[in-house]
Amino acid sequence: MTKASDPIGIFDSGIGGLTVAKAVKQLLPGESIIYFGDTAHLPYGDKSTAAIQAYSIKICDIFLQRNCKVILIACNSASAAATELVKEYVGKRAKVFNVIEPVVNYIRETYHKTNIGLIGTKQTVGSGVYETKIEGLGNELKLHSLATPLLVPMIEEGFLQGTISQDIINEYLKKPVIHKISALILGCTHYPLIKEQVGNYYNGKVEVIDSSALVAASLRAYLEYNLLLNNSNNSSYNFMVSDFTESFEELTKLFFGEQVHLEKYKLWE
Ligand code: DGL
Repeated sequence: MTKASDPIGIFDSGIGGLTVAKAVKQLLPGESIIYFGDTAHLPYGDKSTAAIQAYSIKICDIFLQRNCKVILIACNSASAAATELVKEYVGKRAKVFNVIEPVVNYIRETYHKTNIGLIGTKQTVGSGVYETKIEGLGNELKLHSLATPLLVPMIEEGFLQGTISQDIINEYLKKPVIHKISALILGCTHYPLIKEQVGNYYNGKVEVIDSSALVAASLRAYLEYNLLLNNSNNSSYNFMVSDFTESFEELTKLFFGEQVHLEKYKLWE
C-alpha cells in the first residue's frame, strides 16, 4: 500500500539529473528523495536504446526495493529510450514520470499552428519521441530538432558564462534546421544551466522551455490529487552513484546548488 511518506526515486545517467531533483526539492520540500546517477554508464546520450533500457530497469529495482511511490526518469535520453518499458515493468508498484510528458502537455496548452524547436543528445533527438508526441497533439505543430552533443561536456567543464560557451551555443542555434521557431525545448538535464545564454541568442523572441520546473509541478499535482503529498518537515535525501569519483561529487554543487555526499552502489555484481 503506497503511503505519502514513501520516497520519490529520481534517476539519471549521472549528476546532471540533479537539476530535476533540485526543482522537485524546491516545490516539494516535504518529500524524501532517493537519487541514482548511473555514472558507471554515462553518457546515455550516445548509448543504444537497448543498453539504456537495461540500465533503467536495474535502477528501478533499487527504487522498488526502497518502496518509492514515484519513479521519475530525470534523464531525457532515458525518458526517450525507456519510459514505455519502465512503465510496463513497474506496473502498479509505483507511478512513473519522465521529463518529456509534462513538456508535451505544456506545449499542447500553449502553442498552436507553429514550429517548436528541440535540442538534446543524439539519443533523445534520434529517438523521434518528441516529434511523435508533439506532432500528434493535433495542434498543427511541427517539431524541428538538433542534437547538440558538445553542450554536455562544455557544461560539465564549467563553461557556462563567457564568450567561448556563448559562441558554441550560437553556432548550434544558428543552424537552419531550428530556424523560425516559437519555442525551444531544452531537452537535456544539463541545459537549465545555460538557459540564460540560450535566451541571449533569441533576445526574448523565442520561449526557452526548461522542463525541470514543469516536471516538478506535474509531480506535485499528481501527489496532491492522489492524497500522496508529504508535508513532513523531516524529509531525507540520499544520493547514490554506480561509480564514484571526487569530481562527480564536486559536480553536484553545479547541478544541485550545494555539494552533497555520493554513496557508491554497484549496479551489477
Ligand atoms: N542526462 C542526459 C540527458 O538528459 C545527458 C547526459 C548523458 O548523455 O548521459 O539526456
